[in-house]
Amino acid sequence: MKVNYKVLFGGSILAIGVMALMASSVNEREAERIALATSPSVPASQQHKSEEWAKYYPRQYSSWKSTKENEKIDDMLKEKSQLPILWAGYGFSKDYNAPRGHYYALQDNVNTLRTGAPEDGETGPMPTACWTCKSPDVPRIIERDGELEYFTGKWAKYGNEIVNSIGCADCHKNDTGELNVRRPFLDRALVSAGLPKFEDSTHQEKRSLVCAQCHVEYYFQKTEWTDNNGTKKTAKVVTLPWANGLTAEGAEKYYDDMGFKDWTHKISKTPMLKTQHPGYELFKTGIHGQKGVSCADCHMPYTQEGSVKYSDHQLQNPLNTMDRSCMPCHRESETKLRGIVLQKYQRKDQLHELAMDNLAKAHLETAKAMEVGATDEELKGVRADIRSGQWKWDYAVASHPAFFHAPEETLRLLAVANESAMKARLALVGILAKHGTMDYSAPDFSNKSKAQALAGVPLEKLVAAKKEFKATLEKEWYKQAVSNRNLNMESRKDLDTTPTSYSK
Ligand code: HEC
Ligand code: HEC
Ligand code: HEC
Ligand code: HEC
Repeated sequence: MKVNYKVLFGGSILAIGVMALMASSVNEREAERIALATSPSVPASQQHKSEEWAKYYPRQYSSWKSTKENEKIDDMLKEKSQLPILWAGYGFSKDYNAPRGHYYALQDNVNTLRTGAPEDGETGPMPTACWTCKSPDVPRIIERDGELEYFTGKWAKYGNEIVNSIGCADCHKNDTGELNVRRPFLDRALVSAGLPKFEDSTHQEKRSLVCAQCHVEYYFQKTEWTDNNGTKKTAKVVTLPWANGLTAEGAEKYYDDMGFKDWTHKISKTPMLKTQHPGYELFKTGIHGQKGVSCADCHMPYTQEGSVKYSDHQLQNPLNTMDRSCMPCHRESETKLRGIVLQKYQRKDQLHELAMDNLAKAHLETAKAMEVGATDEELKGVRADIRSGQWKWDYAVASHPAFFHAPEETLRLLAVANESAMKARLALVGILAKHGTMDYSAPDFSNKSKAQALAGVPLEKLVAAKKEFKATLEKEWYKQAVSNRNLNMESRKDLDTTPTSYSK
């Protein structure tokens, strides 16, 4: 048999070439992996500054920094004018925007009217806990001052310390680069739910659990403690209500059993709950969560740059990156898949509006009932329905994308919320009639300013005080942080001019 040596040889050259190429790509990836595992390590004392990590991980750093590209402010109180009514008497009725890039997380917390206008380290409406999901300075302070000291006092106490927005040290160990969590309440919550701690979780689960440090439901648990000098103090410790499971009903029972309320509603005097953003919990109920897909699979897709493959750290809406975020798993066209997601949104939005309208009217009708003489005893059932209904509505929508992460669960919760609101309104018709009021219709709340007026929000005053704070104390904070070497002023250069809901 005559062998065609030329073909064989040519083929081999090609194969060798391909193998060499593959080897060089494997080598580079391996080199990156080793560099990560044995990196010259970012000094622990400087790890809260993401710029310090840039030297070793330039791609991750520059994609992380790109979260600044989503700068747009979406004023939700304008978009959904029921909201100031639903949150009357609570901070969210003052100011509430849709989430934007991690780059802005800290500045948005400082800018929001909810955090008020402190004049020194001891004034202002909010506790220190409000910094918790904004900055890698938080674990730094927890480790320096102790967790209970960190959770004690007013928000402004740490204004000159918590100065870097969400960064590398929130999710990675400074010495090995491994995924990491330094917010102790997450492990406590996992244990309370009978789940493995972060360290004992699978690698795939860790790719979601790093997000669960922040994208979760929580409340501030009052904790009495005594410091080293014997001074008695009260801490407000971020706690995740997971002991009855990671569900809306489980958390509601948790709060009901302890007689907990976030605030008393200003219009209806109902003892209310405010859902935060149970993104992780809801995600787990959806098909992607159940099939073991992680947050990072969609929000941090692998990106090829030359022969190097890395995780895109520009956390954003994955519909902007469907080719990398969805198409590795899905076979239909991008356009078709996008259409399916849009349809989900429209279905959710119809139920969402109904539930909000009915809940807002239930609050206003309760106020009318009080005005015409209904007693707390008569209104007990109504208020219980409002509390429970509003909790379910808020749980369904507070982590905005839930309709995509968990469509069935979102629709179920919105339907139950609407049912509770209608039950309350039906009872109110009877109560109002008993007190001689027929055909009452709630006042108009069809735009933000009408709704805020009904909710008693003194917007102009709040904005003026905030501007004063921004011109004085806030500026002082950054100066001090720079002189303590906790902040590179360069890294917050464009944050002074970033838009707010009140600055346009
Ligand atoms: C340290 C707390 C924290 C961690 C950890 C965290 N987030 Fe966030 N995330 C936030 C906050 C706060 C915002 C809202 C920022 C704003 O609006 O200023 C946000 C916003 C977002 C947004 C909206 C971005 C946009 O441009 O619309 C996405 C998407 C997101 N996070 C996904 C994730 C994913 C996925 C993870 C885990 C890989 C994660 N986050 C980890 C706190 C955190
Ligand atoms: C919100 C959490 C989060 C933040 C903030 C974050 N990372 Fe990551 N990072 C991840 C996740 C999740 C992965 C994927 C890890 C895996 O699967 O092993 C990752 C992977 C990496 C890797 C491994 C190689 C790769 O790209 O997959 C490096 C290196 C890295 N990150 C560096 C950084 C640096 C530097 C910063 C800050 C500029 C940063 N990360 C900020 C969550 C985060
Ligand atoms: C299967 C892909 C996928 C997974 C997995 C996933 N997400 Fe998302 N996420 C999306 C999509 C798509 C959107 C945008 C939906 C929309 O707005 O139309 C989104 C939106 C978001 C937003 C809101 C962005 C905004 O600007 O409103 C946040 C925050 C978020 N996801 C966090 C998470 C967290 C945390 C996890 C894990 C617990 C997670 N996601 C898992 C696909 C995913
Ligand atoms: C790691 C793989 C993976 C990724 C990445 C992924 N999906 Fe999926 N997706 C699945 C699986 C698995 C199912 C369940 C259906 C099945 O088994 O075929 C599913 C189901 C769906 C469904 C139908 C289920 C429902 O909730 O109604 C939609 C819509 C969907 N995905 C959209 C997306 C979009 C949009 C993205 C990108 C933002 C994405 N997926 C990313 C694996 C993935």
